[in-house]
Amino acid sequence: MRIYCTEDYASMSRKAANLLSAQIILKPESILGLATGSTPVGIYRQLAAWYRKGDLSFSQVRTVNLDEYVGLPADHPQSYHDFMRQNLFKDVDIDPANTYLPNGMAQDLGEECRRYESLMRSIGPADIQLLGMGRNGHIGFNEPSGDFPMYTHVVELAPSTIQANARFFDSPDQVPRRALTIGVGDIMRAKRVLLAVSGADKAEAVYHAFAGPVTPPGASLCVTAPPKRDPGRRQSRPGPPPENRRRRLRLTMFRKQTTTRL
Ligand code: F6R
Repeated sequence: MRIYCTEDYASMSRKAANLLSAQIILKPESILGLATGSTPVGIYRQLAAWYRKGDLSFSQVRTVNLDEYVGLPADHPQSYHDFMRQNLFKDVDIDPANTYLPNGMAQDLGEECRRYESLMRSIGPADIQLLGMGRNGHIGFNEPSGDFPMYTHVVELAPSTIQANARFFDSPDQVPRRALTIGVGDIMRAKRVLLAVSGADKAEAVYHAFAGPVTPPGASLCVTAPPKRDPGRRQSRPGPPPENRRRRLRLTMFRKQTTTRL
């Protein structure tokens, strides 16, 4: 695992965009696992800027997103379909037919989970999976729990997630209560995981993801947990960072595929 601590949101975005663009340059037909939310906006902007400069092409790239709200049509301004269109897809040369997100409007959500799961299997594991982290440690919409589903599933959003995401809606009442999300097992199949985190309000979640234990655990623990063959490492993790350092925490974590605690 590599940890990059950066000065601010802009440099975190640039560093993460660098890592993603290196992947695309080395393998133009890369499969990218993508995330939404405020964290990756700067990353996507930087990638689009490099595309405009002619340094990067998405023409052979395929993307698979983590999640989508239940009940929001693809053209709803707060849907993740629309987020991806507005923040990345419309600004680069990606073929929309090569971009995949779960359908939150499916009549049969169980069937949609199975469809998305088999779609991911047919495409193959992401070469790199970009993740953000919720303040409660969620990744995708895998909310803190003692029992993380491995596969795509319907999730009831935690009250803290509804509250956090209310900033994108006119009122908290409008935030969908459910979402479709790929599972922690799906995320861990990625060849590499790039977890980007910014903001003092996430310092606690970052600390718990790396130093645990957390009750109930955040899903991010799964991508930061050491391999099982190295059982001593968790115990030797350092204590909490000093308060002043925690407040300035801006970091990007980049890692080779991990093994999990599942
Ligand atoms: C959404 C997703 C979520 C967000 C998380 C943080 O696709 O993956 O896990 O990454 O909710 O959101 P922001 O970046 O808005 O703080």
